[in-house]
Amino acid sequence: MEIVTIANNKGGVGKTMQCYQLACHLANQGHSVLVIDLDSQANLTSTFGVQIQRTLIPEWLIGDVDFDDVVVPSEGRHKLHGNVMLVPASRHLANLSKLLIISESEIRKNAGRKERLLKKRLDDSGVREKFDYIVIDTPPMLGDELIMSLVASNRILIPTQAQDYSIDGLEELMDTFEIIKETENPGLEFAIIPSMVTSRRKIEKQRMDELSQMFNTTPVIRNLVQMQESISIKKPICVMGRKSKGKQDYDALWNFLDLN
Ligand SMILES: Nc1ncnc2c1ncn2[C@@H]1O[C@H](COP(=O)(O)OP(=O)(O)O)[C@@H](O)[C@H]1O
Ligand SMILES: [Mg+2]
Repeated sequence: MEIVTIANNKGGVGKTMQCYQLACHLANQGHSVLVIDLDSQANLTSTFGVQIQRTLIPEWLIGDVDFDDVVVPSEGRHKLHGNVMLVPASRHLANLSKLLIISESEIRKNAGRKERLLKKRLDDSGVREKFDYIVIDTPPMLGDELIMSLVASNRILIPTQAQDYSIDGLEELMDTFEIIKETENPGLEFAIIPSMVTSRRKIEKQRMDELSQMFNTTPVIRNLVQMQESISIKKPICVMGRKSKGKQDYDALWNFLDLN
């Protein structure tokens, strides 16, 4: 089983898109997939057809409610949705850091440190054993949600746009990755994924070359209208025809990353 976190401390780089497409692809291959939405904007939750009043993720992390109380089936027209379970988010998740401070002594007793909470909950009561893959979406900041996910995961996928400020933000994220790898999770790996690429722009191409000199980047995901449509009509790229450019890009990416 593998736990994959999609992260970038910058917003609008295609994290939620990647989470949706990865979870659907894995489910379409017949794997059983748990999706955890740790972004209070809950975009992934609504793309999986779910809307909830108030997420119980903070209570679950702290240990006040069980996994069964936070997980729901995903909704969608495609057969693959039968293989996807979801831990949905809502706006209330924005209070997570505050709630973790209030519960500090309880957390210390049952997980040692707050960074280990998500890992502990997934290790607990056989959650990990129920799924072939767990895919986690994170908010655009280096906060508790992201740190917890890095401690719990095998891999972090980092969609990156080729702009100066986006690459600067990446260095901050990589520093965090290194610290987590050294202190909590020596097996953690990462991949930098050029995202929403429009190769027509010369400056972007230059930045992309710089990026691939700094890191081993993966095959790119192009900026395609079809990708936006995939989200708005809730039709994952993996069920589109072979001629679909989006499908070609994602198939090449999942093959490269050995996520099949
Ligand atoms: N490859 C792509 N081509 C075109 N539009 C994309 C692509 N990836 C993401 N988008 C769109 O860009 C916006 C931001 O993507 P999103 O996945 O929500 O980013 P993040 O989760 O990093 O904030 C969304 O409207 C999404 O539909
Ligand atoms: Mg998002």
